[in-house]
Amino acid sequence: MKVGFLRESSYAERRVVLLPDTIKRLGERGFSFVMQTGAGADVHYADREYEQVGVQIFSDAVSVVKEADILLRLRMPTREELDSYPDSKVLIGILQAWQHEAELQRLAAKKWSVFALERIPRITRAQSMDVLSSMAALGGYKAVLLAAAHFGRVFPMLTTAAGTLTPARVLVIGAGVAGLQAIATARRLGAQVEAYDIRAAAKEQVESLGAKFLPLTLESSGEASGGYARELTSEEQAKQREALSAYVARADIVITTAAVPGRPAPKLITADMRRAMKPGSVIVDLAAETGGNCQETIPGETQVLDGITLIAPLNLPASIPIHASQMLSRNFMEFLSLFRKKDGTLSIHTDDELLKGTCLLWQGESLLQTA
Ligand code: NAI
Repeated sequence: MKVGFLRESSYAERRVVLLPDTIKRLGERGFSFVMQTGAGADVHYADREYEQVGVQIFSDAVSVVKEADILLRLRMPTREELDSYPDSKVLIGILQAWQHEAELQRLAAKKWSVFALERIPRITRAQSMDVLSSMAALGGYKAVLLAAAHFGRVFPMLTTAAGTLTPARVLVIGAGVAGLQAIATARRLGAQVEAYDIRAAAKEQVESLGAKFLPLTLESSGEASGGYARELTSEEQAKQREALSAYVARADIVITTAAVPGRPAPKLITADMRRAMKPGSVIVDLAAETGGNCQETIPGETQVLDGITLIAPLNLPASIPIHASQMLSRNFMEFLSLFRKKDGTLSIHTDDELLKGTCLLWQGESLLQTA
């Protein structure tokens, strides 16, 4: 089975989906590889190193796609790219399919099979394939570093001959994978950390990292199926914002990570709440990709509003491309091991919950049909 990957074309993308050592391991399991020249350049792997593990290299993306049985991508291909692609291939990627209806229709018309890795069930067997957790952990870490770089004070308490510097007060809203990593990173830097999540289960995890869990309660559980958060009603959201206001106002740094799968990010910080913060404070809105947790967020931009810096980064894991690629490479390798060829054609186990959970199209049909 031939696997293809490209020099990713989207905005600020520096990650690559497979590294040479992973390719070597997959090669031992019967896979072969084609790639576009320069695919590993941003993580300092030259074409030569890929060639040494048997990868065939093409200068253009379309030749790679034509040659491959399976195409790996970090983002949904653009409509223009899809128009240039041949029929009847397999696409595996982080596709954010709910935002790309038109692209999916094109893939269906071309009889492609499509697997969206962000939909992988959050079960123990899938942990090594969980691209969202891998990238969220890096995003949470980097969000704290971004905040520290824009903050005019230090994070830890410092007692010096020139006086005592007070520790930063950090508030993390949303304590999933990214939020927990942000808490751990801010704690390591010496900040005082408070955190909040609508899932009751998050309290214990927050406290185990040495942070304080905010005592805000919802009238009914904030948890939906699969351990994810549910979308709050507009009345619940208003109550939540009111309860959060005082904590936001006294924080020096606010890191927001709240997300509901397949939905726009909940708006947790209004313009009034931001205005009540002290000048010099910093907000990092990690939910910018899905619209942002702050009413004033402009995805991809950093704004200074009345002395408060509001940072809304896009694709933050791409700013740590080497470790991000290392983690992705492992995640994709584990997922690829679910695929095999039978009698010369690709076959999959329809009853495998990992394949069922991620398959958006099978040979152009929106239901998984073939074993
Ligand atoms: P996510 O990225 O979908 O959301 C981030 C956080 O925002 C979540 O903790 C969510 O509860 C919270 N949130 C949503 N709406 C909110 C609101 N209005 N106010 C405050 N917080 C809000 O979540 P993530 O990080 O992907 O994790 C989701 C769950 O899956 C967690 O319980 C996590 O521990 C679990 N998980 C399980 C894995 C496994 O393999 N067993 C792997 C990874 C995560």
